[in-house]
Amino acid sequence: MDGMTEFAPENFGSPAPPLLSVENVTLEYKTPGRVVRATQNVSFDVWEADRFILLGASGCGKSTLLKAVGGFIAPREGRIVLDGRTIQGPGPDRVVVFQEFDQLPPWKTVRENVAFPMRVSGRVGRKEAAERAEHYIEKVGLSRFADAYPNTLSGGMKQRVAIARALAMEPRVLLMDEPFAALDALTRRKMQEELLALWEEVRFTLLFVTHSIEEALVVGNRIALLSPHPGRMRAEINSHEWDLSSGGSSQFQAAANHIHRLLFEEAVAVDGADDE
Ligand SMILES: Nc1ncnc2c1ncn2[C@@H]1O[C@H](COP(=O)(O)OP(=O)(O)OP(=O)(O)O)[C@@H](O)[C@H]1O
Ligand SMILES: [Mg+2]
Repeated sequence: MDGMTEFAPENFGSPAPPLLSVENVTLEYKTPGRVVRATQNVSFDVWEADRFILLGASGCGKSTLLKAVGGFIAPREGRIVLDGRTIQGPGPDRVVVFQEFDQLPPWKTVRENVAFPMRVSGRVGRKEAAERAEHYIEKVGLSRFADAYPNTLSGGMKQRVAIARALAMEPRVLLMDEPFAALDALTRRKMQEELLALWEEVRFTLLFVTHSIEEALVVGNRIALLSPHPGRMRAEINSHEWDLSSGGSSQFQAAANHIHRLLFEEAVAVDGADDE
């Protein structure tokens, strides 16, 4: 922070507003004959440089929420506010990385794949796009493969390209929907660590969807637990409360058990309610 604004009277003593606010958001799909309610009155705030996790069972509406933040689905109720403005549709300030490895046009090299969305956005000139592409390809450790085509890369490498491509857009929020779920366990773990190392350097804001408790605890600093269908906010966990940074596996296990209990107890209650 520099300049005078930091000390302006109106800013003095007031906490920074959230970067992203999901306010009372209900999301629905209209299918022929019926309406599927995916989430109900979900609210959470994401601050700059948060690594915010949406965690919950399959079908609880995590991907749907991410799509809504991406601007691809409009809320039935509630609103989503980014930088003080209600989201009206997709924009270059939000970029999504998906689970699938086939997000990259196969006829473009790694370098072209990373530069392409910046050029399409019309906001980044050719020279800057090229520079940013080199920078972020280097950050994900793929400089040696800049001229390679996606089909010559492993799944983990393709996801690194997708991450470089997303970060090169320098979005306000990076949205990730189970980006490592299709990788083998070892590669997945490695990618989680690499993502954290990248975050240490770049300090982007992350909204990350997973149904793995372990992944949520490794990647996130704040975790929203969603109850099953339709997804509602069950609880919010701040990983600082668990002192996970000390590296103690017992603390990690305790946090995982705590989350498991919260998700599992809710699931039992809902299963019971369904047995009518
Ligand atoms: N295009 C669609 N049309 C109708 N219903 C849908 C559509 N996409 C998702 N749904 C329904 O909305 C609910 C939430 O789906 P969503 O994909 O958001 O869940 P999720 O938490 O991401 O699950 P998973 O962990 O399996 O990816 C589910 O009941 C699902 O069947
Ligand atoms: Mg999903």
